[in-house]
Amino acid sequence: MNIIVKKDIETFDYEIEFIVDKQIDANLQKEAEFLGFSFKECEVVTIQSAKKILVHIKDCKDLENFKIGASKAVKVVKNFAVKDLKITCADEFAPAVAEGLILGLYSFDKYKTEKKQTQLRDLIFTGDDNLAKALEAVAIVCQYVNFARDLVNSHPEEIYPASFVKVMKDEIAELPIECKVLDTSDIQEEKMGAILAVARASRHEPRVLHLSYKPKGATKKIVLVGKGLTYDSGGLSLKPSDFMVSMKSDKSGGVAVSSAIMAIAKLGLDVEVHAIVGLVENMIGGDAYKPDDVIVARNGKTIEVKNTDAEGRLVLADCLDYACELEPDYLFDMATLTGACVVAFGDYTTGIMGHNEKLKHGMYKAGKVSGELVGSLPFNRYLKELLKSPVADMSNIGSSRYGGAITAGMFLDNFVSDAMKEKWLHLDIAGPAFVDKEWGYNPQGGSGAGVRLLVEFAKTVTN
Ligand code: BES
Ligand code: ZN
Ligand code: ZN
Repeated sequence: MNIIVKKDIETFDYEIEFIVDKQIDANLQKEAEFLGFSFKECEVVTIQSAKKILVHIKDCKDLENFKIGASKAVKVVKNFAVKDLKITCADEFAPAVAEGLILGLYSFDKYKTEKKQTQLRDLIFTGDDNLAKALEAVAIVCQYVNFARDLVNSHPEEIYPASFVKVMKDEIAELPIECKVLDTSDIQEEKMGAILAVARASRHEPRVLHLSYKPKGATKKIVLVGKGLTYDSGGLSLKPSDFMVSMKSDKSGGVAVSSAIMAIAKLGLDVEVHAIVGLVENMIGGDAYKPDDVIVARNGKTIEVKNTDAEGRLVLADCLDYACELEPDYLFDMATLTGACVVAFGDYTTGIMGHNEKLKHGMYKAGKVSGELVGSLPFNRYLKELLKSPVADMSNIGSSRYGGAITAGMFLDNFVSDAMKEKWLHLDIAGPAFVDKEWGYNPQGGSGAGVRLLVEFAKTVTN
């Protein structure tokens, strides 16, 4: 699919036209109303006689309406015998429309023997060079959102730690990104005892992937840490069957931070970025780590394992400690960390936690601009008490069934150095990373959650 911007459009096969607040040609209105169109928000109608799909936008201040409307419309046209599609909307709405089109067109058919073909090739906007540049930037970000969706949806015998690294190496080949990979012996040397414990029962050895983008002259440094559980069976604290299904998506945080750094590098943003991904498969077996084990993390702190299904925080613990040594200006970890976060916010919202209110607000604003839903969960001293262990420095789960998203975040706090406390945010994407039904311009399955959010935050750092 190509996004094309032209001064004048002479020929095209079909058109998607955005109608804002009922501003419509009288003849079209008659036809649309005849077909039952009633000017609802994001409502779509096909007028075959005019070779047009109309999309109605009531509230044009909320750009999400344009994305959802564009996605609805393009899902209709992609089944038509149509190659060149003209998109008609005001310039100010075009970036949102382009985003909705590209994200809405996504489908995952890698494992289908029969692929659904679309004839759609060119999405043509009218506009000048400025618009062309703006839409090119949108296309780059969407390309990596769709890349993230593909990788999250890929099954766990295809994507395991070593193959995850291979995919990323191939993908960064043309980008100004350096890549360092820690294998088992490097991870041992680094004394990343928590990662090693989680990884032990898997036939797939763990990896720590460290990608870096260092443009000349950048003055700020962002370090991203991602949970890359290529599969989470729960370990010996085995997940019930229904909860294990979809745990291929437990790598979504690692996928999101890797995709974000690639988008940032391709956009050429003026900020140094690192992405560190802890890649592990959490399995069962005679060699599995156990409830009751006490493990020693990279920073020397001891952890009593009470539940092997709380493995993500163990992997992140070692990665965060490693990340702090890079002395970033911003440190964000992203993880499908807790079911409790999904209970708190529902499927679609990322939970933000941290010590710095201003930074949390900055991420909230990046959510508003990017269109990702984020909400804040507060740390407090009483929940911290729940992580106490009689035998080790801490336990890997809280002692209460309530507040699980926050206790997980407060567990991670133990691995963020004092100097980094105010620079750190924890982002729990367990809800939006993988959803069983399609929502807005997101498909069933992997959504690419976190990519647009992180890219948008990075933009605010360069300004
Ligand atoms: N990967 C899961 C969290 C998760 C749940 C992600 C649902 C996506 C959807 C994580 O490793 C986990 O199992 N967490 C446990 C923690 C509990 C044992 C304290 C959970 O949330 O149940
Ligand atoms: Zn788990
Ligand atoms: Zn997990």
